[in-house]
Amino acid sequence: MNNLKILILDDETRITEKLKYHLEKRNFEVHTANMPNEGFELLEKEKPGILILDVMLPGMNGLEILKKVKEDHAGTEVIMISGYGDMDMVIEAMRKGASDFIRKPFQVMDIQVAVERTGKFVELQNKLEKAENIGSLVSKELEGMIEKDFIGESAAIKNVIKVALKAAKDKDVNVLVTGENGTGKEIISRIIHFGSPRKEQVFAPVNSSAIPSTLLESEFFGHVKGAFTDARDDKKGYFELANNGTLFLDEIADMPFSLQAKLLRAIEENKIKKVGSNKEVDVDVRIISATNKNIEELIEEDKFRIDLYHRINTIEINIPPLRQRPEDIKPLLIHFVDSFCKKKNKPTPTISNDLVKKLQSYHFPGNVRELRNMVERALILLEGDELLAEDFPLKGENKNVSGSLGSLCLEDNEQKLIVEALKRCDFNQTQAAELLCISRDALKRKIKKYGIEIDKSIA
Ligand SMILES: Nc1ncnc2c1ncn2[C@@H]1O[C@H](COP(=O)(O)OP(=O)(O)OP(=O)(O)O)[C@@H](O)[C@H]1O
Ligand SMILES: [Mg+2]
Repeated sequence: MNNLKILILDDETRITEKLKYHLEKRNFEVHTANMPNEGFELLEKEKPGILILDVMLPGMNGLEILKKVKEDHAGTEVIMISGYGDMDMVIEAMRKGASDFIRKPFQVMDIQVAVERTGKFVELQNKLEKAENIGSLVSKELEGMIEKDFIGESAAIKNVIKVALKAAKDKDVNVLVTGENGTGKEIISRIIHFGSPRKEQVFAPVNSSAIPSTLLESEFFGHVKGAFTDARDDKKGYFELANNGTLFLDEIADMPFSLQAKLLRAIEENKIKKVGSNKEVDVDVRIISATNKNIEELIEEDKFRIDLYHRINTIEINIPPLRQRPEDIKPLLIHFVDSFCKKKNKPTPTISNDLVKKLQSYHFPGNVRELRNMVERALILLEGDELLAEDFPLKGENKNVSGSLGSLCLEDNEQKLIVEALKRCDFNQTQAAELLCISRDALKRKIKKYGIEIDKSIA
């Protein structure tokens, strides 16, 4: 018997029975309840590792139950079940600490994937809590550093930090960090590495979308002399270079399908083969991956291997966009103002309340990176001793962008914004990417996706 207990709370007996049947077949101990009070009794009595919870329940909604469970039963992870109309509530639930969700109507595979992923997390937490001596691996110093450098007061960010510190302690667990551009995926990945027992070893960031596909295999695994025309010497790949340390696979979703199988093998077996050699070389690396894409959608489109996905996301950390956590804007603003003034040896200006309010209602498509860039621009231009709302012109403000948008189709408008940014920078892609608050690689991909011509004649 699997030692993970599961409680299912849903008012439809058809659903509780169906789930119970499938999960018991997979050797889980399963309890079911159809009313909230019944559910609370079982939570108390059975202390399940996982609660599968419907969003809509009679007399109490799933979010209220989630809140209570998070307060009173810290050891229970919650997977929400939702109908199609309840997506807003699901998003809210994920922000409030739910681990995952299953959408109705669901397939047996969906349940299995959600339970297994959450189960791994529960198992890891138990392991860490039992190993008392591991507690000292994340030093007070690191916790202090995080408070200083990774700023955020929202519950969502506190949770991101909590999970990152937990992940840091286990030196082998693979972590997938997801979130929009500029949300801080790379800093979180560094925090995990520098908070881990591997901290004295290398943190090797690799962006596979920036490497020509013909070179990828040799870049990752190395090659031996003579393996191909240009292989004049033996060469070590990223796995060997990062040996004993952390390999940070940025933009993992762009990894070509052909390399994914080889990567999976290297991660599963901790062994690699150099191009042109049959000899296996042992490697020991932790993989942290990052993406701003929805990998589950790519799996459905057969662009990403599901087995690799399961390998890389033993723990998944999602950093919500800045617009969903306005409480973080003021502390981030203060942080960026202070650190910029200190660096430039300038007096620190005060920050007007109107400015904070204005920024809290802005949608920040470029997230924290956009806020940081805005602060730097405003401070460079500042003449007085107070930062005011007008020192932060926002995208679209006064330019009546919404007036120029014909349709509200996201893709049409994304394309228009890219063309506009390119024109404004005289087709300099680095500057256009800055204006769009995305990376240069991301801009290149979008230019390719929309077939935008980099030719001044269209200007
Ligand atoms: N919570 C935070 N506190 C302080 N600085 C932050 C925070 N989040 C992001 N930043 C800053 O925002 C910038 C972007 O962060 P980072 O490069 O980690 O984002 P990313 O998610 O990897 O972006 P991309 O998807 O474009 O690669 C960095 O300068 C980083 O220092
Ligand atoms: Mg990044």
